[in-house]
Amino acid sequence: ASERPAAAVNSAPLVIAHRGASGYAPENTLAAVDLAGRMGFAWVETDVQRTRDGELVVVHDETLARTTDAEQRFPGRAPWRVRDFTAAEIATLDAGGWFGPRWAGARVPTLREYLSRVERNGQRLLLEIKRPELYPGIERDILLTLGEEGWLDRSHTRRGLVVQSFGADSVRAVHRQRPDVVTGLLGNPAVAELPSYAAFTDQINPSHTRITADYVAAVQRLRGAHGEPLRVHVWTVNDAAGAERAEAFGVDGIITDRPDVVRDAVR
Ligand code: G3P
Ligand code: CA
Repeated sequence: ASERPAAAVNSAPLVIAHRGASGYAPENTLAAVDLAGRMGFAWVETDVQRTRDGELVVVHDETLARTTDAEQRFPGRAPWRVRDFTAAEIATLDAGGWFGPRWAGARVPTLREYLSRVERNGQRLLLEIKRPELYPGIERDILLTLGEEGWLDRSHTRRGLVVQSFGADSVRAVHRQRPDVVTGLLGNPAVAELPSYAAFTDQINPSHTRITADYVAAVQRLRGAHGEPLRVHVWTVNDAAGAERAEAFGVDGIITDRPDVVRDAVR
């Protein structure tokens, strides 16, 4: 099997648990990571942002309103932006109760806590830098934390880590600062633009609703930052029909809230 985070030609696409096994547990919590592990999924995807006092935390939305009880706990702090709260405040929030009573008490993990759990579970990480334009310099902060937590050694950079973003400047910054890290650009860039991105990224990871077989093939014909064919990991595919379609289009990986459904559809 390839050491790189993508399937070899003609094998089933890699299945990546989106925000953990987020169809079955509250997204971006340690519970969702653990559940993905118990279900047998090595790869988890997550989103990283930064608090007011500079802590890196794992949360998807720009605000805490949808996935925590911040509105109840801090009623005067609308619109509850992640970057307006301290790490200590965020640590007090319930990030599980919205998903169901049995998940109450789950927390918003710091990136350090998250990395430690993924490592303990023997899993691998597709880390998204979320809204990098809101967090100047976050690439350096993330790389510093990854390094301090042992995630930039050779075994991790070769097999266990991809850093991706919708922000091309952010992906380029990661590549410049740590050329050994595998990177991904989220979105659906035009084919004509691909060569310029291939200089600093290894993956083009588009919405599954906007791909064709020709587009996937056009991406994979190019070589990425590490000299290998550019990979394509699509998001977010949550049903069997979508997984079969993506597989037929030749994608290298599928990012999904329901990894069991996708695995059953593509194997
Ligand atoms: O990993 C790709 C996917 O997560 C991008 O969209 O909004 O779920 O972060 P979003
Ligand atoms: Ca994401």
